[in-house]
Amino acid sequence: MKTITTSKQLQQTIDELRIRRRSIGLVPTMGFLHDGHLSLVRTAKLENDIVVTTIFVNPLQFSESEDLATYPQDIERDTQLASEAGTDFLFTPTHEEMFSENVLTSISVTEISSALEGASRPTHFAGVATIVAKLFNIVGNCSAYFGEKDWQQLQVIKRMAIDLSYRVEVKGCPIVRDSDGLALSSRNVYLTKNQRSEAANIPKTLIKAHEMIRDGERGPNNVKQAVLTHFERSPEIEVDYVELVNGETLQVTDQIDERTRLLVAVKIGTARLIDNMNALKGPSI
Ligand code: PAJ
Repeated sequence: MKTITTSKQLQQTIDELRIRRRSIGLVPTMGFLHDGHLSLVRTAKLENDIVVTTIFVNPLQFSESEDLATYPQDIERDTQLASEAGTDFLFTPTHEEMFSENVLTSISVTEISSALEGASRPTHFAGVATIVAKLFNIVGNCSAYFGEKDWQQLQVIKRMAIDLSYRVEVKGCPIVRDSDGLALSSRNVYLTKNQRSEAANIPKTLIKAHEMIRDGERGPNNVKQAVLTHFERSPEIEVDYVELVNGETLQVTDQIDERTRLLVAVKIGTARLIDNMNALKGPSI
C-alpha cells in the first residue's frame, strides 16, 4: 500500500491506472477505522482492481458545537488496518492541501438533506456533499462505497452523483455491528462503560420495532410510539429523532411497506449515535 498526501499525486496515479485499464474502488472515510469502514474496503477490493481509501476529517461537515477538535484519530493504526483490508492507495491530505484557498463553493442536495440529520445539523450534508464531490472530481470514473449506517448520507450522495452526472457508481454496504448489535462507529469511543452497555438498547429497540411490524403492524405512529417508549426506559438515552420514512425520498410515510426505513438518532452522554433498518426486513443482527 502506498500513502499519498496531495491531490495532484493522486490524480497522476489514477491517470496511470486508467491507461492500464484498472477499475477503481473509492472508500471515503474520516479515519479511526473500524470493521464498518474495513468492510467497505474489502467489498471495494472484491469488486475492483485497485482500492483508494481516503482519510480526511472534513471540517465542512461539523458545526461549531460539534466534535471536530476532539474527533478520534490514529493514523498509524489506520494505515495498518487499511493496508490489511486491501487498500492500494491511502489518501491522507492535510487540511491545507484540501483547502489551500478559502472555500467559496458548496454543494447542497435540497429536500432530502433537510429532515432527520439535517434538522439537527443544518449545514452537515452540504459539508459532506462538497467534500465527496471534491473526491469524486479528483478520482473520476470509479465505484464509491458508503455504509448504510449513514443511510441519509448515502441517499444524499447517490442523488448528488445522479444530479451532477458524476461517472461514479455509488454503492451502499450493510451496517457492521458489534457482538451486542450496536452499530460500529468511531464515536462509540466517547461512551463510558455504563453508557456503552445502555447503547445496546438502540439495536434491541430496532428489533422490537421489527417484531411489531413482522407481526402485522403497519401504522408508522404506533411503531414510533413503541420505539420512544422503549428508549424512555434507558435513563442515559436522550432521543433526537425516531422516524419511519420512504428510504429513498426520506419523506415521512403513512403506511409501512417494503421501502420504509426506520431511522433513529439518540444522544448518550456526549456521543450522538444513529442507526436504521428496513422496516420489513429488520436490522439483521
Ligand atoms: P466516516 O464516519 O468515517 O464513515 C466512512 C464510511 O464508513 C461511511 O460511508 C460510513 O457510512 C461507513 N460506516 C461507518 N460505520 C459503519 C458501520 N458500522 N457499518 C458500515 N459502514 C459504516 O461518513 C463519513 O465518514 C464522512 O461523512 C465522509 C463520507 C467520509 C465525508 O467526509
